[in-house]
Amino acid sequence: MTDFIGVFDSGIGGLTVFSAIKEAFKNENIVYLADTKNCPYGVKSMSEVREITLKNISYLKALGAKVIIIACNTATSTIIDVIENSNNYIIGVIQPTALEALNQSKTKKIGLFATNLTVASHIYDQYLQKATLYSEGCSDFVMLIEKGEFHSKRMKELIKNHVNHIGEVDTLILGCTHFPYIKDEIQEILPGVQMIESGKATTNYLKRYLTPLEKNTKRKLFFLTTGDLTTSQKQITMLNLTFDEVKKVEI
Ligand code: DGL
Repeated sequence: MTDFIGVFDSGIGGLTVFSAIKEAFKNENIVYLADTKNCPYGVKSMSEVREITLKNISYLKALGAKVIIIACNTATSTIIDVIENSNNYIIGVIQPTALEALNQSKTKKIGLFATNLTVASHIYDQYLQKATLYSEGCSDFVMLIEKGEFHSKRMKELIKNHVNHIGEVDTLILGCTHFPYIKDEIQEILPGVQMIESGKATTNYLKRYLTPLEKNTKRKLFFLTTGDLTTSQKQITMLNLTFDEVKKVEI
């Protein structure tokens, strides 16, 4: 399997980025890697997530990826130096997402919902020095989202609690690729606030570096998991997605 776009995340979060790429690059083969065995990343240490991320990148590279999208803010935050030196072979989600937020915000008062590790890395702060940033670590959303609990009572309570910790913002960055699944729930509590997701921003960034293939009517979509195959198959069905092949891999 060569000539494909590699996309990876700790679980189903990166599928929100995958879906945007799939639409924009209709003829490209895409391999999605869900590192479910190591999910969640956001409560691990910086060095542990960096090591896992570098392993996953090597795996996708050896498989023949022509470009690798780190569809995970947490993983991105641990390898900014590697991304910057990769000549756009490796693309992270944080820079495109942060710049999109800065561009869209009128008041330059921006909220950030991200995993605990992304918040602790302060990478968003570096890209958003021209704004006032209110960051909130929301790692407790991640495993509920993995289980498909998008609208549960527990989820609503958690969201309310985190919303109370951010200031008067006009823009909220969903700085974890799992969070677009609960966008409607968050929007309900913050009606006037615009939400910025990594999927669209990263796809627009990718368009600058990858010219879409014009012909390849038989493009293939693969889903690889490092975790439990049955769980992944159920998640794919729950999200109404289709892949040509879904399989478990050892990394
Ligand atoms: N989806 C990931 C992100 O964008 C991380 C979730 C996790 O594994 O903690 O940050």
